[in-house]
Amino acid sequence: MNYKDTYSRSMNDPDAFWAEAAKGIDWISPFDMILDDTTPPFYHWFKGGELNTCYNAVDRHVANGRGEQAAIIFDSPVTNTKGTLTYSDLQAATALFAGILAGQGVAKGDRVLIYMPMIPEAAIAMLACARIGAIHSVVFGGFAAKELATRIDDAKPKVIVSASCGIEVKKVIEYKPLLDKAIDFATHKPASTIIYQRPQAAAQMIEGRDIDWVEAAKTATPAECVPVAATDPLYILYTSGTTGIPKGVVRDNGGHAVALHWSMKNVYNVEPGDVFWSASDVGWVVGHSYIVYGPLLAGCTTVFYEGKPVGTPDPGAFWRVISEHDVKVMFTAPTAFRAIKREDPEGTYLQKYDMSKFEALFLAGERCDPDTLSWAQEKLGVPVIDHWWQTETGWAIAANLLGIEQLPIKAGSPTVAVPGYDVRILKENGEEEQSGEIGLIMIKLPLPPGCLPTLWQNDERYVESYLSMIEGYYLTGDAGFKDEDGYLWIMSRIDDIINVAGHRLSTGGMEEVLANHGDVAECAVIGVADQLKGELPLGLVVLKAGADRDVSELAGELVQMVRDKIGPVASFKMAVVVDRLPKTRSGKILRGTMKSIADGSEVKVPATIDDLAILDEIKAALQTIGYAKET
Ligand code: COA
Ligand code: AMP
Repeated sequence: MNYKDTYSRSMNDPDAFWAEAAKGIDWISPFDMILDDTTPPFYHWFKGGELNTCYNAVDRHVANGRGEQAAIIFDSPVTNTKGTLTYSDLQAATALFAGILAGQGVAKGDRVLIYMPMIPEAAIAMLACARIGAIHSVVFGGFAAKELATRIDDAKPKVIVSASCGIEVKKVIEYKPLLDKAIDFATHKPASTIIYQRPQAAAQMIEGRDIDWVEAAKTATPAECVPVAATDPLYILYTSGTTGIPKGVVRDNGGHAVALHWSMKNVYNVEPGDVFWSASDVGWVVGHSYIVYGPLLAGCTTVFYEGKPVGTPDPGAFWRVISEHDVKVMFTAPTAFRAIKREDPEGTYLQKYDMSKFEALFLAGERCDPDTLSWAQEKLGVPVIDHWWQTETGWAIAANLLGIEQLPIKAGSPTVAVPGYDVRILKENGEEEQSGEIGLIMIKLPLPPGCLPTLWQNDERYVESYLSMIEGYYLTGDAGFKDEDGYLWIMSRIDDIINVAGHRLSTGGMEEVLANHGDVAECAVIGVADQLKGELPLGLVVLKAGADRDVSELAGELVQMVRDKIGPVASFKMAVVVDRLPKTRSGKILRGTMKSIADGSEVKVPATIDDLAILDEIKAALQTIGYAKET
């Protein structure tokens, strides 16, 4: 069936469509409702059904004869280690770790927080939670102790699983001191922590609380998969909201397994046994869906790569991994390709590797600029597919579905709506925009399986953040348009979220940190264009009356504060002092206007601004750090 017919079927008869897709999953007891729509705006998929996600991702492949196939290939240029875990190995390791968790009193519904680098033990910990019905919450390693503490307080984990360190190119980042600090900051205290000691750093253990992973494994009893309801949560993943308090996106078991399994063949065109590599991190949604669950649910081999696109050791790193492990399909963020292109514009390193097994590259996480897309297409000679999604949906909203029908690629567009998603471009009053007109990108409810059913213990915030703008529609937070061929174009965010190297960050969260500096009266953080990372945060601060500060010293303090409170991942490295900030008459800071000035793009001066001189002042301040260039 072609794309058009598949999409129409998903819209006209969603029950039949998803009941068919659900056959890709082994159910312990069948569901009695495909979609429970009795309590709008809350929807639940596969109600009444019972399954186990770990069983579907691991055990069933062993039972079906894939026990000797590689489930996980790990490749770490930063530690010079490589290896393979077969499905049988993964089953044994997961069952054992599930036994360790159970030994610590973790049971169905309990939360386990996972703060790990890109090592296979991270997947083992996630799958072990799924095995016993515990809910995991993975936190990205680049977040600081304060951010970790916020997540500990929200998720209230019984146990925290971590490692002694992560490795960033050549730097060893000790995780344990960060974890100890976070537990100190947090009001909620976990009963225990389980620490995987890596040879690069030894974690100091706290007697009576911290447990050594390897030691505990020596005496643990493997645990079996338990049945969980399709509607039970599998995990919570925190993502940036419009304030400093992150949103706990909930993922259920049933809808998630069905959607991800379906996506592996239909979106990415991979079959059981194929090697699929997502060069991301388990701390992000891409890592959850396409390093761990998607490839494993489909019986593929997944690659755990602990390294960067460049510098580990050179811009040929990705090509080496693809050729060495016979990768068929790769997924990463455009920023990774910009980094490679910058260091090796001619693609010289590609000549060294046999890329004959490689069939497609998928990009997501930020807008893919046409230059990067065409460079990748030209150098790799395979389809380069931009696709659009977000933490909340857990899988693609718009894509070129290679497993169904490859549509013509239009650079700058992630192509068309994925079956299951009724994507509309609306005005704020709910009317549809004409084709080609920019509007709010909304999805008509219900969202398809796999998307968030709610926010962790916060139905109210879920409704308020996503469902209250226009009744019956989910607000994606992106603005854009649909062209005459039905292609979607994602143009910008409508909120204060910025995308830095494919990482989603809240400028509001950074402003909250800057505002805490004793000399700062007022501040704004904007995302300015960056050739490598897409966007970079830049702070503009107004000092309190009487504060007489050396500007570069103050900027250094502000940079350090964001690093300490949010983490290095924020990439906050620039702050300038201004006398005042431009505002509307009602007092709203004109961040968009300042961003246009910084980027040197056309500045649309809002009618509500009285004193235009303020814009020249902002421009002059930004020019002192190399922005707001005259064009
Ligand atoms: N643990 C601790 N620190 C981390 C970290 C982790 N897991 N991940 C990143 N950091 C740190 C980095 O070391 C860096 O610190 P620094 O300021 O001391 O140099 C900072 O956080 C910013 O990291 P990053 O934005 O990744 O920048 P980078 O300069 O190290 O690398 C790229 C830039 C483009 C090479 C890299 O971001 C990349 O490969 N991105 C594409 C893949 C991807 O991760 N996509 C995400 C979603 S698909
Ligand atoms: P995250 O939740 O971290 O995956 O970030 C989701 C946001 O990243 C989206 O809402 C978009 O703003 C942006 N994004 C992700 N993929 C794309 C894409 N292919 N094109 C444009 N923007 C994207």
